[in-house]
Amino acid sequence: MNGEKSKTSKPWVYFHESLDTSKRNKGGKERARYVMKPVNEYNKHAKKILEIGCGLGDVLVELSERYTIYGLDIERDFIEACIKRMPKGKFYVSSMHNFKIEERFDVIFSVFDAMNELKDFDQWKSTFKAVDDHLDRDGLFIFDVFTPKILRNASSLSTTRPFSKGYYFDRAIVKGNSLTWDVKIFERLSNGLYQLNEYKFPERIYPVAKMKSALSKHFDILETNLREEGRNILFVCRKKSFDGFWCCGKVITESRTHRIVQF
Ligand SMILES: C[S@@+](CC[C@H](N)C(=O)[O-])C[C@H]1O[C@@H](n2cnc3c(N)ncnc32)[C@H](O)[C@@H]1O
Repeated sequence: MNGEKSKTSKPWVYFHESLDTSKRNKGGKERARYVMKPVNEYNKHAKKILEIGCGLGDVLVELSERYTIYGLDIERDFIEACIKRMPKGKFYVSSMHNFKIEERFDVIFSVFDAMNELKDFDQWKSTFKAVDDHLDRDGLFIFDVFTPKILRNASSLSTTRPFSKGYYFDRAIVKGNSLTWDVKIFERLSNGLYQLNEYKFPERIYPVAKMKSALSKHFDILETNLREEGRNILFVCRKKSFDGFWCCGKVITESRTHRIVQF
């Protein structure tokens, strides 16, 4: 994690395990709902679904009855938790920007701003390419990310929460196009003293036009839906389908919308 403390180091896991399961389930259901809406509309016969940046699998668990599910995350401990939780699923430890799986999918999705955790925009571009390479014909790519609007008043965001093993505190720090979550967990030790564990999780935020331009190399953008008062955007994209063939000494390439004849 590039010098940043791993999200799966013990105090972080303790804190997340102590969160109310019904709230976690509610969040997972809600994210599954907004991913499934466009799937039902644009690819209702979809069977194989991959989530990139799947975390503890709160969304995939909601889809496991209806689909063959696959998940990928950069954190090994999260993937191990997913394997225990969904024994029928297939899971991979990898960064989303250079993953290689010997399978093709009907839908690939990424939610809860997981893509904002990529290191730079080159990683976004290679994520788009990796997704394109793993989608079947007409496959869908659905993802949500923060928009620059989140940077406007993020500096006022902070949380303090007691939990069973101590205290959790976070605050957002904005610098340029990055929003860094500065997290401190005070873990209560058996001798009654508290140990401070510090984490920094930077998220990089890019203009919507820049995302659209990079996406359009690989995908037709079917929908862009602003959410959370414009601080977040959901993209629904379809893999571009080109069927090229030679005819009368010319290459004829057909996409769904137009025919290009190259002389
Ligand atoms: C906010 S969590 C979202 C988890 C899950 N999508 C959900 O909705 O419950 C973001 C996840 O992205 C993962 N992540 C961050 N950078 C990644 C990368 N480069 N490749 C794959 N996963 C990554 C993190 O480990 C984390 O599990």
